[in-house]
Amino acid sequence: MPDFRSEISAFLASFRERHGALPKFAYNLKEFNNKIYYSGPWYEDAELAAAIEALLVGKWASSGTYVHKFEEAFGKAIGQTHSVMVNSGSSANLVMIAALKKFYDWQDGDEIAVSVVGFPTTIAPIVQNGMKPVFVDIEFETLNFDLDELERACTDKTRAIFVSPVLGNPPDFDRIAEIAEKKKLVVVLDGCDSLGSLWRGRALASYANAASCSFYPAHHITTIEGGMVSSNTEEIVKIARSFAWWGRGCWCVGPANLLPNGTCGNRFSAWIEGQDTVLDHKYVFEHMGYNLKPIDLQGAIGLEQLKKLSEIHERRRDHYTRIQELFRKYVAGLKFPLSLAHAETSWFGVPIICESHEKKTRLVAYLEQNGVQTRNYFAGNILIHPGYRTLGDYRDFPHANRVLEEVFFVGCAPTYTSEHFEYLEIVLEAFR
Ligand SMILES: Cc1ncc(COP(=O)(O)O)c(C=O)c1O
Repeated sequence: MPDFRSEISAFLASFRERHGALPKFAYNLKEFNNKIYYSGPWYEDAELAAAIEALLVGKWASSGTYVHKFEEAFGKAIGQTHSVMVNSGSSANLVMIAALKKFYDWQDGDEIAVSVVGFPTTIAPIVQNGMKPVFVDIEFETLNFDLDELERACTDKTRAIFVSPVLGNPPDFDRIAEIAEKKKLVVVLDGCDSLGSLWRGRALASYANAASCSFYPAHHITTIEGGMVSSNTEEIVKIARSFAWWGRGCWCVGPANLLPNGTCGNRFSAWIEGQDTVLDHKYVFEHMGYNLKPIDLQGAIGLEQLKKLSEIHERRRDHYTRIQELFRKYVAGLKFPLSLAHAETSWFGVPIICESHEKKTRLVAYLEQNGVQTRNYFAGNILIHPGYRTLGDYRDFPHANRVLEEVFFVGCAPTYTSEHFEYLEIVLEAFR
């Protein structure tokens, strides 16, 4: 194949010469512009050239070769043998729970234990799949769910523990494995915020039967929108793929879709039990599925982003430490969540616990006025939100209720440069 990427990169260089920098949000947040975004994409010409090449000369516009290659490369990066890419982290959670329910034969009304604090689409897929979330309060030292509470909350109908590490900070996976073994539970990871985080030197996905990830621009790597389900159990990923691809039975992926007789070698057969009719396996529907497919240019971008993965983790860890030190130096009355002894976190952000609600309100307003973006720790207690109130009483979770009052986070994006740190120091030094 001709070297299209070099030609596209040359075009991008001449475009920049004629028009100046490309728009910052869509392109490159590395340049400082008196604003410290909490996160954002880290694109360079390589990502743009890959995306344009996929559009210009790719065989598929929708999920095809690039997506398939990205699935394989991503699986390798997190030590999982099988992965399926979807159009978001939320979709990944949706089809992951659907696939686990089918694979383990969970029934409607069976339970999944989950932190009451977190991102809404960790929890919604449990209900959307006919199961019941069993909420667990958090502990304030780590902001992760309290593992004593977790053990107490599990009943004989609980089938799984859904772990979603807070901003990438792992809870005690040894203890989670112990509880799972004792109570015969499946461990599921919402890894959307924790790509690159390790427990005892191993990727968190290796402690779970299945794991999800998000590639929204704020996350460790981005494909603009995008998500992944990974597992070492091929069948779980096969079922997840079916749910994401209209529910179809055919399991061909990438170029295998062009094989006249499919991967099975048996594409046109009497696929439906009790029916003699010869059918194309691509149009046999095993599940009531969705269409959550990504497009091929997202796979092409993902492959480029993966090349930066270790640099991203290094930078995020380094930026986390530097930003925490600046806050400690200039602002009294703050605490930072504990990292456990065996955890090595690739931080999604820098969580900050304030001594009071008044302090949080004042500090957040001051940072925002001075161009330093802040975020709440997502939903706080999910049960205070109108869409979730029927699932339980928020008053039963006293620690969770303090999250929106006292906790917020700022970024530690890999795109920050020395200018960002110098500016943040000036801003924090002047805080009264
Ligand atoms: C823990 C967690 N789970 C799920 C999601 C959803 O991912 P997406 O935005 O790709 O749908 C997010 C999004 O930030 C998240 O932080």
